[in-house]
Amino acid sequence: ALISMRQLLDHAAEHGYGMPAFNVNNLEQVQAIMEAANETNSPVIMQGSAGARNYAGEPFLRHLIIAAIEQYPHIPVCMHQDHGSEPAVCLRSIQSGFSSVMMDGSLMADAKTPSSYEYNVNVTRTVVDMAHAGGVSVEGELGCLGSLETGMMGEEDGHGAEGVLDHSSLLTDPEEAADFVEKTGVDALAIAIGTSHGAYKFTKPPTGDILSIDTVKKIHARIPNTHLVMHGSSSVPQDWLTVINEFGGEMGVTYGVPVEEIVEGIKHGVRKVNIDTDLRMASTGAIRRHLAQNPSNFDPRKFYKVAKDAMKQICIDRYVAFGSAGHA
Ligand code: G3H
Ligand code: 13P
Ligand code: ZN
Repeated sequence: ALISMRQLLDHAAEHGYGMPAFNVNNLEQVQAIMEAANETNSPVIMQGSAGARNYAGEPFLRHLIIAAIEQYPHIPVCMHQDHGSEPAVCLRSIQSGFSSVMMDGSLMADAKTPSSYEYNVNVTRTVVDMAHAGGVSVEGELGCLGSLETGMMGEEDGHGAEGVLDHSSLLTDPEEAADFVEKTGVDALAIAIGTSHGAYKFTKPPTGDILSIDTVKKIHARIPNTHLVMHGSSSVPQDWLTVINEFGGEMGVTYGVPVEEIVEGIKHGVRKVNIDTDLRMASTGAIRRHLAQNPSNFDPRKFYKVAKDAMKQICIDRYVAFGSAGHA
């Protein structure tokens, strides 16, 4: 059944677990996430980014999730719109039936520039007013995702985005978080703790000075009833990195957010954990290996199948580690 993010995260808080929120772009990802949820009896959050809507088209993306709900009627599924750049984007998702939206007012619409606090409060409040009128949940973001190591925002190619961020905006301030939640009425708050999007987060396994679980603890102590969200929370599996490079890939040395650190965050109010890169890497590694080892195969179902199974295993691991397994 379709469920709002608020309903799901309230349940997670009550029972002390965290929800992986997987980005989806295509059929095989949706199937992998649902098969894993079915086998572990976990609820599900699937989210579509602007890139996903651009790739698949919003109706295809939405109907893939609706198909998942039809095939697995006993599993609660939240259909969430990831990183809305402006209220109009969120309104369109609300109208088309998403049960949850993110208004990312931490960046100005269409610009990789940190926004003013007042702008963020205003656009987020606008989306909360619209969404709550229809029973739809809202995630806001305060503070900019970016690397405490380099001051760069993450990017898929490992070269970082143009913007080099002000160090102070890379960690969300607990007092400002309390004010933001009170002024906007968001159901969940994404916070900046040193993670960034994409595969290139850390050049070495992260220590407390570059991945600040301490900041999670401080924010949770200040606003204990607010569900916290960690973005950029792929763990960048070293085994898949090795497979990718062994079979013709060229990914550089890189590390992600260790699962144990996320589990520590879940003990301190983190309820939604965004993961995209890990499934991308599992899928790419499995396909590279399959094609290298089966050069005569030209039936795509064979390599989509190994990609699906590789993604599914990551989903199972996260449902179990974050404690959502058994809570469908
Ligand atoms: O927000 C970041 C997600 O990893 C989505 O990435 O914009 O390439 O779909 P994307
Ligand atoms: P990763 O790139 O770490 O998977 O983060 C995804 C994300 O935060 C989507 O909003
Ligand atoms: Zn994100």
